[in-house]
Amino acid sequence: MLLEVNNIQVHYGHVAALKGVSLEVEEGDFVTLIGSNGAGKSTTLRTISGLDHPSVGEIIFNGQRIEKLSADKIVKMGIAHVPEGRRVFKDLSVTENLLLGAFTRDDKQGIEDDLEKVFQHFPRLLERRNQSARTMSGGEQQMVAIGRALMSKPTLLLLDEPSLGLAPVIVQEIAKILVDINQQGVSIILVEQNAELALELARHGYVLETGKVALEGEASGLMDNDHVRKAYLGI
Ligand SMILES: Nc1ncnc2c1ncn2[C@@H]1O[C@H](COP(=O)(O)OP(=O)(O)OP(=O)(O)O)[C@@H](O)[C@H]1O
Ligand SMILES: [Mg+2]
Repeated sequence: MLLEVNNIQVHYGHVAALKGVSLEVEEGDFVTLIGSNGAGKSTTLRTISGLDHPSVGEIIFNGQRIEKLSADKIVKMGIAHVPEGRRVFKDLSVTENLLLGAFTRDDKQGIEDDLEKVFQHFPRLLERRNQSARTMSGGEQQMVAIGRALMSKPTLLLLDEPSLGLAPVIVQEIAKILVDINQQGVSIILVEQNAELALELARHGYVLETGKVALEGEASGLMDNDHVRKAYLGI
């Protein structure tokens, strides 16, 4: 198993954001977390990437306990997180933003090769590589954020609401790229409000409700589940 999250609890002051969440990601897997606002999706990703720490429970990545490690140690181990909102450095160029994603690395040739690969995934970024991130559209900034995460050479990529606020045609373009990235061997955990898209892309799904896993299973099965259809697919 690539990642095992065992019964984690996360508190913000007196608020219990996660009340015992468990999930698993196999090597090469594409997993999605769906759920309403405040269910704990972002907190789950933040805890896996070391931005938050659980008060109870453990997180095991490649056989090693990581729940107490700092975020930059976790990046080095191979987990990259694209947070909610598109956080790019607006005054820097596209290429400079991408290279920041490689801050934990010192293999110059590898970094150049990976920059090339990111431009293959995102030809729009190659065309605009010297442009400042501020002048990029929302969709292009999301591509920069994903590209920057790839520059750390992750084995596991965590994506928090990549489709938020983007036009359907850009959402489809990014979705296709996520599938390509996964097919090249990077495991993915995708958090999405757009449950339909998420369940189409992923193989396994977890439904979070108020800090707990309410349902889990094959994405195709969840898509046929009555509760999921009513609560998240609006059918
Ligand atoms: N920094 C914080 N301080 C206090 N409470 C927080 C903090 N971050 C999250 N919470 C609370 O934890 C719970 C889970 O929040 P989280 O952001 O993980 O939800 P989410 O599923 O990502 O929701 P959304 O779909 O709105 O992004 C919520 O009740 C939220 O108010
Ligand atoms: Mg969130």
